[in-house]
Amino acid sequence: MNTGKLLTLEGIDGAGKSSHVAWIADFLRARGKVVLSTREPGGTMLGERLREHLLSEAMHPETEALLMFAARKEHIAQVILPALQRGEWVICDRFTDASHAYQGGGKRLDRRRLVELERWVHGKDSSQPCEPDLTLLFDVPCEVARERIALAGRHLDRFEQEDAQFHDRVRHAYLERARKFPNRFRILDGQKNLEDIREEISAWLLEKGA
Ligand code: TYD
Repeated sequence: MNTGKLLTLEGIDGAGKSSHVAWIADFLRARGKVVLSTREPGGTMLGERLREHLLSEAMHPETEALLMFAARKEHIAQVILPALQRGEWVICDRFTDASHAYQGGGKRLDRRRLVELERWVHGKDSSQPCEPDLTLLFDVPCEVARERIALAGRHLDRFEQEDAQFHDRVRHAYLERARKFPNRFRILDGQKNLEDIREEISAWLLEKGA
């Protein structure tokens, strides 16, 4: 049985989620939780190798979705489920909602295919399904996100190089997911300052049993 919790962080590129991961881990540790912090695509040796291809090589959108879910299966089996079974809190920087948002919304893949892959890879029909318990969605308008990425001045990966319409579709697909699963999602205004966002996160986590 899973006694831990899976907390996932989502948002379009440039929404600012990654700057909160370490802080959330510290907050939970201070509450006495054992925390495992990980990311997708990645989180295992094989997953990190697949990540390199996914972020840099052109490929068919269905290949992209299949590789995302292949990396995820490995991640769930090797890292996430064992940690949840040990009673730990797992913080995952992106998870399956990202596939629905990027491959479903952004790349316009057939949503039913993604739902099928999710059922399989999450083990929904098994005795040990793996589902996120809580999801923080960092939401910012696409223009703000693009400006932040441009200001950072680093090399852009394959997804960051997509146009504004792509990122707008990703953003709206995320918001649609949040509306569909209101119990586990918390939408955060990524334009607020760091302290306000952190206050909101900590209050919500306490409410959710942290
Ligand atoms: P991310 O870890 O946010 O990159 P960085 O830390 O460099 O900002 O995510 C890498 C990219 O992968 C991001 O653009 C979204 C994309 N992605 C998908 O398209 N589908 C998925 O299922 C996942 C997990 C990520």
